[in-house]
Amino acid sequence: MYQIYPRSFADSNGDGVGDLNGITRHLDHLQRLGVTVVWLSPHFDSPNADNGYDIRDYRKVLAQFGTMTDFDRMLAAMKKRGMRLIIDLVVNHTSDEHRWFVEAKKGASNPYRDYYIWRPGKAGAGIASSAPNNYPSFFGGSAWTQARPGDDYYLHYFAVKQPDLNWDNRKVRSEIYDLMRFWLDKGVSGFRMDVIPFISKDPAFPDLTTDQLQHPDRVYADGPRVHDYLKEMRREVLSKYDTMTVGEAVGVTPEKGPLFTDQTRGELDMIFRFEGVNIGRDGWRTKAWSLPVLKRFYTDLDISAGTSGWNTSFIGNHDKARAIDALGDGSPASAKALATMMLTLRGTPFLYQGDEIGMTNYPWTDIGQFDDIAARNLWRDQVLSGKVAPAELLPELAKTSRDNARTPMQWTAGTAAGFTTGKPWLPVNPNHATVNVAAEAADPGSVLAYYRRMLALRQTTPALIYGAFHDVDPAHPQVFAYTRIMGANRYLVVINFSARPVGYTLPAGITPRAVAITTAVSTGTTLPNGTLALAPWQASVYRM
Ligand code: GLC
Repeated sequence: MYQIYPRSFADSNGDGVGDLNGITRHLDHLQRLGVTVVWLSPHFDSPNADNGYDIRDYRKVLAQFGTMTDFDRMLAAMKKRGMRLIIDLVVNHTSDEHRWFVEAKKGASNPYRDYYIWRPGKAGAGIASSAPNNYPSFFGGSAWTQARPGDDYYLHYFAVKQPDLNWDNRKVRSEIYDLMRFWLDKGVSGFRMDVIPFISKDPAFPDLTTDQLQHPDRVYADGPRVHDYLKEMRREVLSKYDTMTVGEAVGVTPEKGPLFTDQTRGELDMIFRFEGVNIGRDGWRTKAWSLPVLKRFYTDLDISAGTSGWNTSFIGNHDKARAIDALGDGSPASAKALATMMLTLRGTPFLYQGDEIGMTNYPWTDIGQFDDIAARNLWRDQVLSGKVAPAELLPELAKTSRDNARTPMQWTAGTAAGFTTGKPWLPVNPNHATVNVAAEAADPGSVLAYYRRMLALRQTTPALIYGAFHDVDPAHPQVFAYTRIMGANRYLVVINFSARPVGYTLPAGITPRAVAITTAVSTGTTLPNGTLALAPWQASVYRM
């Protein structure tokens, strides 16, 4: 799977914003890489309060991205190459400019009122806030806003401009199932489902406890009817088509994950769990992390899939800082090490655009450079309110901001990295002089060349796709070593997760025989007595 963030992938008409024709032009790159399915981040009509995750019209293409004809042409071009397309299903909320909400906010008697969630405010002397309860929004402040003074409050887990839909209303669910059929009938093959665990709410809206306030997402992800709705969606829509689905499982705990993906339950095919990619951060702050904890997460995740579930494997997306900086050290060697891990864990890999060339975080120096609503609201709430000094927040934001993943794709060393002939909507990373598709395609030692080789190996090696996963050395602080075994086909993956070389002695009984792929310059790295001499960030896959 390959995720495209359309705003930042390729601009075909010089307006500085990526578009669908830009994607169609670059499909050769994806094919050469070995991509078989594309996940397209939202391409729908939207006022872009949250870059398309606030949808105004689910059946219309965002004008900046092109037309429905462009969409059809892109889809046909993908199919011609044997690729499938899944699109983003953002149905926990709409834009406040969606026709349903424009109607709903007219008043309590409007037929669309009950498409959203309204509650009266609290009244009385001495109360801290008149919002119906203490739910916080992910983008700062309360999750409740009054459409106008004197009116009830509507719920929005995200921005004020992203009102949450009322899934308990059967009409809302029918509308959503209809729009899913609209796109499936066009030939898309499924959906990545935005914050899908949040769709069901506890209608009593009890206040969160102090503990729960540390992780409101866990409460939001545990509504009383989420599994009923997902089963209904499968029964009424998905089961009628040849589809795949992947849910963004924000707030889903390890114990609850399988409820979404166990195939015997008929809900989703896969989910994204975020403990791995979030390991080095605490909200907007970075934090120290250790390899054994990361390894433990991957083992738990693997166990949770059981025999009737299936996992995803990913190191980045449009909401995270660049993997190479968050989990690696910014070097191409660390990009290859992470590629090896992502492509050999047991789960369907989701590669985020730009990671295949080792794109890094942007060198931000000023809050004015950021576009993301999350960054701008954070600045407002923390810095402008005087809680945190600018000099404390800016360097952390530079490392954790979602905008790091959203700077334009780097195609060439030329102007604006070949992304646009105009002025790019977000700055282009100056390192595009060397980190770009054209240069790396010509260099057999590049991150891109390695991704191509690693993907080819994976796709021709069933044991690396389906084989049992076993961490052979969970406590080692520097090396991640695991086996993938399917019958007589036995593979060993060894990754040095650090910039320091290491002489690594494998546990007894684990014997590598031949190198299947390695990031090392020379493969003659086995020392006598079975110790592997691993270079900084070296990753190797061995046949056993
Ligand atoms: C998901 C999306 C993110 C968006 C949010 C609200 O987390 O990935 O980009 O801001 O949902 O739709």
